[in-house]
Amino acid sequence: MVRHIVKATDLGPRELKQIFRRASSNLENRYQPQLPGKLIALLFYQPSTRTEFSFDTAIKRLGGNSIGTSNAQVFSSAAKGETLEDTIRVVSGFADCVVLRHPERGAAERAAAVSLKPVINAGDGDNEHPTQAYLDLYTIWKARQEGRLSPGSLRILFYGDNLHSRTVRSLVQLLASHAPELDIPIRGIDFFGPRDFGFPSADVFDQMPEDSEIRTGIKRHTKLPPLSDIDVVYVTRPQVEYHAGKQIERTPLTIEMMGRLQEKSIIMHPLPRNEEIPKEIDTDHRAAYFEQSDNGVLLRMALLWHLLHQKV
Ligand code: NCD
Repeated sequence: MVRHIVKATDLGPRELKQIFRRASSNLENRYQPQLPGKLIALLFYQPSTRTEFSFDTAIKRLGGNSIGTSNAQVFSSAAKGETLEDTIRVVSGFADCVVLRHPERGAAERAAAVSLKPVINAGDGDNEHPTQAYLDLYTIWKARQEGRLSPGSLRILFYGDNLHSRTVRSLVQLLASHAPELDIPIRGIDFFGPRDFGFPSADVFDQMPEDSEIRTGIKRHTKLPPLSDIDVVYVTRPQVEYHAGKQIERTPLTIEMMGRLQEKSIIMHPLPRNEEIPKEIDTDHRAAYFEQSDNGVLLRMALLWHLLHQKV
């Protein structure tokens, strides 16, 4: 059976832990080819810097090769009216794996239904972005191991356009289902953001049992909650591509807010940022967003190996 990663919970907690361990060991072994001869297709129908380059870097660090286009809307037969299904069927006949970013919700699932090889969802509209969630959780896991976060249970504040952010949707679901088994106990998930944009839609919570600790720890704030009790602040930019022109207020982090955060905490952001994190914060020891993007390569190396290596 072909294994696809369409949503964050498509990997189980046990295998995610193995992937985290492998990602950490990639730090030492990053130049050892582990997937020589593998060919991976990168099909990006939406703009990307980090995701596309970090997949491509991961592939090449593993000794594999990539084919693809970063402007598939224009430079693939989509411009000639070909369906996504036909393109995926064809490309999956050439490559060992297809990494797909697409502006429509559900595109990865449609691709997986016809693909001969594993499909990895690199973002489908405002729905999910599983590999970002894996590297986000890996960043939290690593920060805890390094003593940069409290060894106790964590409270995570999602700060920004939580309504449209696919990275938030994937990470929230991953936290709820996998964090405890990865030894990352969660005592609270808080949401705050610009008016009308601060809370994810209800379906994100559908899979969480009503009385579970995580579900009861979810809080939707209309005023910024006290920061002194927050361990991780996960910031996102306004996802203007999904706003249809609707105005959004800007609520950047400030140096004054940093002063209220505890010393053992981290600021995360999937990037790209606009003005929601001023660059003065970059030198703060709690700023973890560039480390987070570096982790993307290590994590994607480990994920590709997990999906594609031949078991002997
Ligand atoms: C995110 C995305 O594409 O959803 N970027 C990324 O992959 N790191 C976040 C964003 O675009 O705001």
